[in-house]
Amino acid sequence: MTKKALITGITGQDGSYLAEELLQRGYEVHGLVRRVALEAPQRRTERIAHLLDKVILHPASLESYPSIFHIVSRYDFDECYHLAAQSFVAESFADGFSTMNTNINGTHYMLAAFRELRPQCRFYFAGSSEMFGKVREVPQSESTPFHPRSPYGISKVAGFDLTRNYREAYDMFCVNGILFNHEGPRRGFEFVTRKISHTVARIKLGLASKLRLGNLEAQRDWGHAQDYVQAMYLMLQQPEPDDYVIATGESHSVGEFCDRAFAELNLDYRKYVVIDERFRRPAEVDQLVGDSTKARKVLGWRPKYTFDELVREMVQSDLEALSRAEGREISRLGSVP
Ligand code: GDD
Repeated sequence: MTKKALITGITGQDGSYLAEELLQRGYEVHGLVRRVALEAPQRRTERIAHLLDKVILHPASLESYPSIFHIVSRYDFDECYHLAAQSFVAESFADGFSTMNTNINGTHYMLAAFRELRPQCRFYFAGSSEMFGKVREVPQSESTPFHPRSPYGISKVAGFDLTRNYREAYDMFCVNGILFNHEGPRRGFEFVTRKISHTVARIKLGLASKLRLGNLEAQRDWGHAQDYVQAMYLMLQQPEPDDYVIATGESHSVGEFCDRAFAELNLDYRKYVVIDERFRRPAEVDQLVGDSTKARKVLGWRPKYTFDELVREMVQSDLEALSRAEGREISRLGSVP
């Protein structure tokens, strides 16, 4: 029997990679999307444009329990990957209320609808390393206490607790992935890695002269989203539900990311990066580095991409796309072998 999966956030970076992964595995893939996305498909479903005739999209809003209930009632889903959220940390400082409403209630609505209609469906919640916040230990594992430092982080801790509680209280197969930062060429432009890779390519092509950033000292454990969606899938294939940290175990500062990205195109980042206080956050998460020993042992998961490969792919992909848009010859300008 063909397995049916529902992905919330299917139009995002992770949702698009996960949809590809599940389609390849023979799943019938359903996606929950906002109605505005269906009404403007060129702009809002860009990352899954190549999959539009292979996936089944349903209009719904995470803010509306009836809309979620309606879709869950119509199909006998085997697995649900709940990825949709307001996921930009800086925005959560600007409007904490919207972030909390969407992220906490949205997760609760999803869980409640599945409990009511499909309690056998396996449920994945996209937890985050942002939950560790002001970190209590280095590296962070499943047993590290949470100390979130943003409304976004707080909303993810609530989602994590809700998911665990549905597992314990109602005996549902609910798991939390505690994913550290994961990036790639499909990353949104508001996140620092894509902002850097895109601006580096623009500078190389003479389309920009400066890159304005906030805190260059913050350290992140950056992996590739394509590797991380494999872990989501593996978590739902286990005999028992559990929570897993997914990380590379390597951490780099924002400054180091800049250094590598500019060097990829033979540029020196110190000539172009300008510190702009507007991009600093009221409370910062200084150092994230994950210990994914459990996932490696139990799931047999490990990342394939190295840090250098990740940066190279992002910069070269932006350079190629911008060159195409500018009508220039597509060349791997100054690529470091
Ligand atoms: N976005 C952004 N823009 N970040 C900047 C900038 C800037 O101009 N300058 C410095 N930074 C720093 C931020 O202060 C932060 O310390 C770091 O770069 C990474 O920021 P983001 O790329 O926005 O990601 P994040 O770590 O806050 O959150 C991401 O990872 C989480 C997992 O830990 C998001 O993907 C979250 O949704 C995810 O849960």
